[in-house]
Amino acid sequence: MKNFSQNFVKEDGIASAQVGNVFSAGDANNLVLVALAEAKRRVDRRLREVWRSQKGVGRHLWHAMRAGIFGGGKRLRPFLVFASADFAKKINLKKISPGRDYPLEVEDEMQRVVDDAAAAVELVHSYSLIHDDLPAMDGDLIRRGKPSVHVSFGDGQAILAGDALLTLAFEVLAPSPPFHSSARDLRVRLALINHLAVAAGGLGMVGGQSLDIGYADSSTGDHSDAESINLIHKRKTGALLCASCMLGAFCVDASESVRAALEVYGRALGFAYQIIDDLYDADVSENSSSSPQLSPCYVRAFGKEVAINDARALCNQADNALSDFGDDASLLRSLILKLREKVDDA
Ligand code: IPE
Ligand code: IPE
Ligand code: MG
Ligand code: MG
Repeated sequence: MKNFSQNFVKEDGIASAQVGNVFSAGDANNLVLVALAEAKRRVDRRLREVWRSQKGVGRHLWHAMRAGIFGGGKRLRPFLVFASADFAKKINLKKISPGRDYPLEVEDEMQRVVDDAAAAVELVHSYSLIHDDLPAMDGDLIRRGKPSVHVSFGDGQAILAGDALLTLAFEVLAPSPPFHSSARDLRVRLALINHLAVAAGGLGMVGGQSLDIGYADSSTGDHSDAESINLIHKRKTGALLCASCMLGAFCVDASESVRAALEVYGRALGFAYQIIDDLYDADVSENSSSSPQLSPCYVRAFGKEVAINDARALCNQADNALSDFGDDASLLRSLILKLREKVDDA
């Protein structure tokens, strides 16, 4: 079975060169693929700017960091930041000033912080994958069809590259000298820093990763501990995906009801995403030196049918969370359609 993460975009044959073509409005699949390509271009522009600030970094670390950030990710988390911010903004504008936009300076400030949030969450994600592949964790030699960062640059540089990318994420979010930000921008940035720190930390992604390897270490062969597996999936993958939606919402001062809806959407999507990844990973993993039979894989634990049903139910939950918002939420809902397709093909 083909790798889900790597083929999510490619299999559909949409090259980034096609972005800008007009697709029929009803074509959710193309809508989401085009938006993903646009998100990739937009966040890559900001990441390249950020990258230029790292010029003085020593050679080994520089190469390892660069491989981690520009190694070919889909940029799904930035997509969620952009799509959630756009969605929340549309709802806000309908309420605050129907038919009008924000004043130009507010709009500019919002777009800048949205770009920073998208770049920051992708930096955290990139770091998490470098560490995830290390011999002390999953021991994966290949990532996105290329040698993992530790394979190319050694374990030490890979660990440090991860550390540097994590730190850089918060540097990007923090207001920078000469601190000309508006009071609104400062407040938003503090909220983003707080939210991303929680999602990335012990109660979020890192916590999930710890439970994941702990599960493998302590497993007695009983893989059906539903509560543990659910918690691992929600934290190791769900936390950052959900946070991406929430960061987008914070950037544009989303209303309480939009935030609540995005949280339900993001949680369900995040959990579903890891189950679908497990569905495609289940019969791997020739490139892994870890013990795949000990990792908490949803499919091995509950069987393929349950995994498919649960992924479908979570997709429905995510979709229902936004169903009251009509066309304004169409892009986020299209992503769910796309994931459903992947479940059907699994
Ligand atoms: C891979 O995430 C790890 C999981 C959480 C399943 P992505 O599928 O977003 O990976 P990239 O960044 O596009 O390679
Ligand atoms: C990755 O989970 C989750 C994080 C890096 C936080 P997996 O270990 O299941 O993902 P892949 O299969 O290596 O991408
Ligand atoms: Mg892992
Ligand atoms: Mg892994």
